[in-house]
Amino acid sequence: MTQDELKAKVGLAALEYLVPNEWVGVGTGSTVNKFIDALAASTTPIKGAVSSSQASTQRMLALGIKVVDLQQVERLAVYIDGADEIDGHGFMVKGGGAALTREKIVAAQADQFVCIADASKKVSVLGRFPLPVEVIPMAAPEIMRRFVAMGGSAMLRMKDGHALVTDNGQHLLDIQGLHIHDPLAFENQVSQWPGVVTVGVFAHQRAHVCLLGTEAGVETIRY
Ligand code: 5RP
Repeated sequence: MTQDELKAKVGLAALEYLVPNEWVGVGTGSTVNKFIDALAASTTPIKGAVSSSQASTQRMLALGIKVVDLQQVERLAVYIDGADEIDGHGFMVKGGGAALTREKIVAAQADQFVCIADASKKVSVLGRFPLPVEVIPMAAPEIMRRFVAMGGSAMLRMKDGHALVTDNGQHLLDIQGLHIHDPLAFENQVSQWPGVVTVGVFAHQRAHVCLLGTEAGVETIRY
């Protein structure tokens, strides 16, 4: 099976976690796009969706799915999103699609986080995938120096020859070479650095369930 087929399988499997007549939080990325396509064809009645990015909003609206702002919703029954990495505790690295800040905000208002991922995303220790960190631009050089002091290397994410600008008007760093053995402590530490908007470690907003696409089918892992 191709990676794309595995993503489609977990996107479809996530429909089982919809709570009828409730709101669903929707993440961002190629795996979530498969979920959005499945959601558009689903017969489960939902109140609508809250989106974590302009890209997911546009895709949902184009498919006729009602999207409302998070401010209009107090609690979400479930949040469904992909990950760049997920470990054995449901701790994740996210932000490969540059949407980490809104993803963390929406996830924090959900009763359950369902991660959908193909098997390549499973790791024993976070840090294989470059860690995204959204930053206020003027703070970027100092934040990069702090990651270098930790033993990592930091790059400003670029797009079309310019620094990528997130949906929130900020910049993104990608950090390589870290082994994140204590994701909760790491998230606490980096989140306190001045100028860090969001660190892509999702430990406080970890997954409760992972639907992992494998050659043998969709594996359900609960944490
Ligand atoms: C976007 C994300 C995505 O969930 C993550 O990058 C996984 O994406 P994909 O499903 O395309 O592999 O965090 O900010």
